[in-house]
Amino acid sequence: MSDIRHPRTDQQTQDPADIEDLQEQLRAYRRQIEVGGGQRGIDRQHAKGKLTARERLARLLDPKTFVEADAYLVHKCRDFGLDKKPFLGDGVVTGYGKIDGRGVFVSSEDFTVMGGSLGAQHAEKIVHAQRRARENGLPFIQLNDSGGARIQEGVESLDGYGKIFFENTMASGVIPQVSLILGPCAGGAVYSPAITDFTVMVSQRSNMFVTGPQVIKVVTGEDVTAEDLGGALVHNRTSGVAHFYAANEEEAFGIVKRLLSFVPSNNREMPPRGESTDPVDRETSEIQSLVPEDRRKTFDMREVILALVDDRNFFEVQPLFAQNLVIGFARLANYSIGIVANQPKVIAGVLDIDASDKAARFIRFCDAFNIPLVTLVDVPGFLPGTAQEHGGLIRHGAKMLYAYAEATVPKLSLIVRKAFGGAFIALASHGIGHDFVMALPTAEIAVMGAEGAANIIWRREINEAPEERRDEVRDAKVDEFRRQFSRPYTAGKQGLIDAIIAPEEARWMLVQALEMTIRQRKDRPDRKHGNIPL
Ligand code: HXC
Repeated sequence: MSDIRHPRTDQQTQDPADIEDLQEQLRAYRRQIEVGGGQRGIDRQHAKGKLTARERLARLLDPKTFVEADAYLVHKCRDFGLDKKPFLGDGVVTGYGKIDGRGVFVSSEDFTVMGGSLGAQHAEKIVHAQRRARENGLPFIQLNDSGGARIQEGVESLDGYGKIFFENTMASGVIPQVSLILGPCAGGAVYSPAITDFTVMVSQRSNMFVTGPQVIKVVTGEDVTAEDLGGALVHNRTSGVAHFYAANEEEAFGIVKRLLSFVPSNNREMPPRGESTDPVDRETSEIQSLVPEDRRKTFDMREVILALVDDRNFFEVQPLFAQNLVIGFARLANYSIGIVANQPKVIAGVLDIDASDKAARFIRFCDAFNIPLVTLVDVPGFLPGTAQEHGGLIRHGAKMLYAYAEATVPKLSLIVRKAFGGAFIALASHGIGHDFVMALPTAEIAVMGAEGAANIIWRREINEAPEERRDEVRDAKVDEFRRQFSRPYTAGKQGLIDAIIAPEEARWMLVQALEMTIRQRKDRPDRKHGNIPL
């Protein structure tokens, strides 16, 4: 018949000695992969109080879930003696694992291999993990510990960063992306975390800067330490580049796990439901005493948040940056929500450049990942002054307005004390797209505060009053303004407030409004993309 022989019939039985050789080869490869840049590097890493790339993954991921990819890949650089250092895996461990039973893709840079520096193949591995994360609809988590672009590989390293940024951008709004900075993160390396959704930094361990202290010294003559230039505290408190400040690596992993518990794996899924038994109709009478009647007294809005949400479980994001505004995740009736709240305790909760940026980015994350927004309002307005105006308050404030208007998730707003001017528009107006607006009966809603308003509209009456009675007249006019214009019933009669509620009903009313709106669909114009004022 046919002289084509089936390959199987050809197969020779392998010599047992060969099989033993192959198995020993596999064990040898695995040992080599396991030690990365070598035991000396591991010891140096430990001596600095840092974990290795693999130890980190073992702590971040559920036990026995990590599947490594591309472990045998080596760099292709033949120059500068690098061909003598073909470390397996090229300085980064990548793959798939689980956190609390849910899949994630990871990359973890290995500082023991040429300082975790990024060469072309190192970059390809990260890009591969990023692409798989996006295609499979699972979060991408990167652990950074690197000296930046691998100097010997030159421009190919730079191009590698370009590919990583491109993938970060493609994945933005599709899957959650989280960066943990666990060592140096310099030069090109900083921009990938900057594009991801959340960045966690570790105290005294991580640094982020575009140009390091030595270069700054040469260029500007300025003396600055790495910690003062780009340490965890600086980026959490001052620049707003980071979102979470961890005391140590263990705490950083805990932050990632808690964060992921509130968010879906991708933009097509709803966030995981909670399992709380906190009654939805639990009375929140404590809000009455938490919010002082005296308008000049401050209070901690976090306490109000804790009173409202399931099990007092509030996970604050960027707690150290722009503290006049509080953002974070919580649950209501077991639905994940994103909270945006003014903080009267810090500069009276006024909106400024940083608070606007902070709110805008968080709103957009929640919107991208189907997380309803609950806004708690006690705001005197936008911060006046040349520093803010010259710093671009108009441009930055516009980001927040844009983000609220653009968002199609349910948007609920509760005016806890006051909502004036542009801040009312952003945080509590139907006009900008809030779906359900509530106010406590003591709330004030107006174009501006009663003092300022009375001084403008009744200036003549106040100025014409005899000198000794002028303060008295002014106070009376301020009271009159409050009665006539700022009570929530005025806005209610104009159809601008959906419900005026007692403090004890606040949780129940928010839950009802959330359940009413959770399935809503809103259309937006078909376009390539909008042009958010950046
Ligand atoms: C190649 C590097 C490297 C790099 C470190 N190493 N960074 N190799 N390319 N970028 C190597 C070191 O030679 C050393 O190798 C090993 O990694 C450990 O480094 P050490 O200096 O011994 O460690 P440490 O004292 O902890 O200091 C770490 C460091 C420092 C702070 C990261 O190495 C450093 O400053 N590196 C350069 C950082 C930098 O400027 N990167 C920017 C690159 S340009 P051996 O063999 O001795 O163990 C860039 C593009 C710019 O990223 C894009 C701008 C947007």
